[in-house]
Amino acid sequence: MATLELIDIAKRFTKKVWGVKKMDLKVEDKEFIVLLGPSGCGKTTTMRMVAGLEEVTRGTILLDGKDITDIPPRDRGISMVFQNYAIWPHMTVYENIAFSLKLKKMSAAEIKERVEETAAMVKIGELLKRLPGQLSGGQQQRVALARALAVRPKLFLMDEPLSNLDAKLRVTMRTELKAIHQQTNATSIFVTHDQSEAMSMADRIVIMKDGEIVQIGTPDDVYFRSANMFVAGFIGTPPSNFFNVECEYTKENISLKHSHFTLEIDSMKFQELGKYRGKEIVLGVRPEDLLIVPESKAVFTAEVLVVEPQGSHQVVAINLKEIIVKMVVSAETKVKPGDKIGLGFNIKRIHFFDSKTENRIVFKGGV
Ligand SMILES: Nc1ncnc2c1ncn2[C@@H]1O[C@H](COP(=O)(O)OP(=O)(O)O)[C@@H](O)[C@H]1O
Ligand SMILES: [Mg+2]
Repeated sequence: MATLELIDIAKRFTKKVWGVKKMDLKVEDKEFIVLLGPSGCGKTTTMRMVAGLEEVTRGTILLDGKDITDIPPRDRGISMVFQNYAIWPHMTVYENIAFSLKLKKMSAAEIKERVEETAAMVKIGELLKRLPGQLSGGQQQRVALARALAVRPKLFLMDEPLSNLDAKLRVTMRTELKAIHQQTNATSIFVTHDQSEAMSMADRIVIMKDGEIVQIGTPDDVYFRSANMFVAGFIGTPPSNFFNVECEYTKENISLKHSHFTLEIDSMKFQELGKYRGKEIVLGVRPEDLLIVPESKAVFTAEVLVVEPQGSHQVVAINLKEIIVKMVVSAETKVKPGDKIGLGFNIKRIHFFDSKTENRIVFKGGV
């Protein structure tokens, strides 16, 4: 049982370098939170402040409502797993997992039971007698996880724990970690720069940029209702396409004029665009919401540049002079480079961003 609250925390390393400029976050009991953002945005600094390995420059950290801002790391009830899982090379797997339990003065019988139970959960029950040198990278990472979980922490922190593993193992471990979380229910914060890892694991994703939070939301929120162009361009593979369009009003319609097409939309449904009359805005479209349609119904036509088969689907790239637009189509769709195709938009799923602030334009109708 644990909730975590970060209240206006910041970390300044030098006069010019801020690790974290401002963070406000409430993590609910049993929640699995993922901190996501590009390298250098402050993810590790945040985790280190929560764990107590880094002093805060400003702000308060509450664990279960109790102020832990100045409490030493070992007294916080928090376990952390790092990218470079430093397990002790001279100790067996059993000793590695048992180490912190011995410090807690648990009896030998209790320790044995706890080590075996935790090892089984992360599937290293057969490896307890081995030394780390006799394990693969993936197995060593499991030992690090077991060591952190064995103490039954109130809060479980993981900083890019899968990034040293090969691509296939990473995907397997995602599923296993999620299953372990469902079993332990430990409130968890997981750091990654990999958006697909974040989407597949998180209850809520906290997206960071330059030491600040840019959006907090469920995977659906950040994907379908991205708060700004940074999020829309960071989440999704391929990410959103952006078109600069001029917003013109006719009697019933809004005409969105792009150098390659004009898209007419219903002014009733997009009333909030009224204040952008005559101005430029950004149209955001996810690759799967750009559709191949018969030329007679097309909003515009374009030539296919590249086709990338992915097995379950294909990514089709189209060259529109200044930008490359990417769309996702079914595996059965017959397209090849040089083909001229008709294109349309899934109007229910298009988005608009203010071209100055880059923030999402919100519609009452809920688009
Ligand atoms: N000990 C440190 N001294 C000075 N600057 C640091 C230190 N640790 C991190 N930074 C800087 O703080 C910023 C955030 O770093 P970090 O939290 O490691 O980012 P992330 O984990 O998201 O990649 C970066 O600009 C980084 O260079
Ligand atoms: Mg980091």
